[in-house]
Amino acid sequence: MALEKDPLPASATGIGDRPKRRSFLDRHKVLEKNATLLLALSFAVVTVGGIVEIAPLFYLENTIEDVEGMRPYTPLELTGRDIYIREGCYVCHSQMIRPMRDEVERYGHYSLAAESKYDHPFQWGSKRTGPDLARVGGRYSDEWHVDHLRDPQSVVPESVMPKYGFLEDTLIDGRYVQDLMATHAFVGVPYTEEMLENAQSDFAVQADPDKDYDGLQGRYGESAQVRNFDGKPGVSEMDALVAYLQMLGTLVDFSTFTPDASR
Ligand code: HEC
Repeated sequence: MALEKDPLPASATGIGDRPKRRSFLDRHKVLEKNATLLLALSFAVVTVGGIVEIAPLFYLENTIEDVEGMRPYTPLELTGRDIYIREGCYVCHSQMIRPMRDEVERYGHYSLAAESKYDHPFQWGSKRTGPDLARVGGRYSDEWHVDHLRDPQSVVPESVMPKYGFLEDTLIDGRYVQDLMATHAFVGVPYTEEMLENAQSDFAVQADPDKDYDGLQGRYGESAQVRNFDGKPGVSEMDALVAYLQMLGTLVDFSTFTPDASR
């Protein structure tokens, strides 16, 4: 083979005798000079690597670490989430805090996979014209949200966010919320029969603290916040959207959370 021929006689290099055995690099040269062989072996390497990475996913039950506190959205929050999607809020807002110091200092604990496990589709977003909203829940009062949604420039003069005051005027009765929840259950959100049966009443109760909300909190836990979010009688789209915003990122208690505690 041509490769075995020394390009220069040892005496001409002045370095002395080359070792008799072909070095690793010499053998690697065979690969580097033969495109077909290189391609075939690269393919083999990628295949093995791919199998090692992908095969476990077929028999792992779940790749998302279970985290205490996560629950499905209440009917009112789920409706608010639909309004969020309908209005295209995700076009300007992300919902994913990356584990980098500047983000964690600004927005709070980085987002966990489990925190979007009941999101179909997820709302991570791809652009931040406005701030990340993954942990906006509890950061402002309900009144602030209503004022801000009605007229963002009244609270943040330089804001480019559009006005959403019409949400206050649109009253909703949750007549389709049971179907919406059933659809989410179909793709894996653990809504129970009881949650589905009580969907419409739970929907109304969450925006009216004068009603009996024990049932709602029995089903969804005390993290289901019950308030008249927009301060007006009746359930409006504003109530639903603010209920959704106010629970974002609040379900996991990060004072007790330790990553990988279950393993
Ligand atoms: C055209 C882009 C745009 C769209 C669409 C948009 N926003 Fe915003 N949003 C912004 C900008 C810019 C800010 C920062 C200035 C401000 O507070 O108004 C902001 C701020 C916010 C804040 C305050 C966040 C914080 O941490 O201070 C909330 C809450 C919010 N938006 C919710 C929404 C909701 C809900 C929708 C959909 C109904 C929406 N936004 C649609 C651009 C947008």
